[in-house]
Amino acid sequence: MDQTRITLHPDFQIAPVDSRIFGGFLEHVGRAVYQGVYQPESLHADQDGFRGDVLEVLKPMCLTTLRYPGGNFASGYHWQNGVSPRTSRPSVRELAWQSIETNQFGTDEFMILARKMCWSPMLTINLGTGSPEEARNWVEYCNSPVGTQYANMRIANGSPEPYNVKLWCLGNEMDGRWQMGHVPADQYAIRAQQAAKLMKDIDPTIELVACGSSTKALSTYMEWDRTVLEYIGEYADFISSHCYVGNSNGNTADYLAVTNFIDKQIEEMDIVCRYVQARSRSKKRHYLCFDEWNVWYRKTTSEYTNGKWQIAPHLLEEEYDLADALVVAGFLNSFIRHADVVKIANLAQIVNAIAPVQTCGDKLLLQTIYYPFVMYSNRREGIALQPVIKGPGYMSDSYGYVNTVDTSAILDESLLNVFLVNRSINETAPVTIDLINKGLANVKSADALTGPHANTCNTFEQPLTVVSQPFRAVQILNGKAIVELPPLSVTAITFELGT
Ligand code: AHR
Repeated sequence: MDQTRITLHPDFQIAPVDSRIFGGFLEHVGRAVYQGVYQPESLHADQDGFRGDVLEVLKPMCLTTLRYPGGNFASGYHWQNGVSPRTSRPSVRELAWQSIETNQFGTDEFMILARKMCWSPMLTINLGTGSPEEARNWVEYCNSPVGTQYANMRIANGSPEPYNVKLWCLGNEMDGRWQMGHVPADQYAIRAQQAAKLMKDIDPTIELVACGSSTKALSTYMEWDRTVLEYIGEYADFISSHCYVGNSNGNTADYLAVTNFIDKQIEEMDIVCRYVQARSRSKKRHYLCFDEWNVWYRKTTSEYTNGKWQIAPHLLEEEYDLADALVVAGFLNSFIRHADVVKIANLAQIVNAIAPVQTCGDKLLLQTIYYPFVMYSNRREGIALQPVIKGPGYMSDSYGYVNTVDTSAILDESLLNVFLVNRSINETAPVTIDLINKGLANVKSADALTGPHANTCNTFEQPLTVVSQPFRAVQILNGKAIVELPPLSVTAITFELGT
């Protein structure tokens, strides 16, 4: 394959990378909570009932902001069902996933977990079947000091100190007909504004995420976002975006070009934000909160989404292959390249349901998509640079032209992190990396992920087929890096800079 040349300049900066783009999402769906993070009867359970083995493998992901409790689940959730002594909590019919919700895990359990894991909590209020007042009460429960009804309730439940939840989502996917309480944009905007006002009256320091378009497939895409932002722009700090992608037609080269689609979605949403800002002559710029993203296309039919009134049924249990891991890396490249626009992003989800970590009884599996997340998340500090890339590429069937090598880069004072995805199915990609005016001195660390075939998965029988490994095919010559990327691979390299 012809050489790819990546040129970077320390002054060609996009923006500091907001660590919150390495967030996650935990929903009450399937076995995400029960048998996922929480299972008091497991032999791995800690003193709080959390699965110690699961938490141990989640730690290297260094997740920042954790969105909870949904998702679609949030639109029918009444938080007070989950915050009394456990024996008095009701079991309810949960309509989003037609499952039985026992409410044994609720706000207090989530906060204990978040503290344990150093996650910053991000709560989604119920704007489907819930009321603005219920949302206001939840903010008081979480954030107010002793002395009033809901703060006192929290204290009675064992938490004297406020939880200080800074980020709140004003509902979930309210543009979708599948959503409980779905309404047109103007009605959602009124509902969201009413809740936002009460919530900010209780705690003016909170940040709010308005529901943006949940998918480009809806005819309301962008028009929904414009209407919502024009109405509640002064209350909301972010607008949400969701994106799930997949390889439905089994064409790997095409699938790996899906990053163009992700880039475009970010850029289009940013256009709406800027349009509304300009039109309203406002000083306030809205940023993107990409609070659900992942690969999800195999387990989407009712067989995998209808819980048939079971407790913790097997739902959305996608098995990920090598190609999916490359696409997850592509999402992260895209977020880094749009660091000026995307300030929060949440991998959906973290355990069992569309997740990097899978449990089966007391066993645990790390899926392919686990590895790129870890490789990137541990190299996230610094300022995103604008890469200039020259090299071979191809025209994809669905997404237009892409370079064979997809990249992003983060400069952190004396370190440079470069992320590389080789989309070629069978060819090694020779790459040179040049940081103008600086020069690269040493390789501090380098890891790569590849595997035998695009469709290779890790399984409970063969769990270590697609795992990241130390990467050695990189050398420095005259201050430039020369790299040989294996076919179908993700590589992350940290360079020390010259003087
Ligand atoms: O993450 C799974 C589901 O996908 C979420 O509940 C919903 O918001 C989205 O449609």
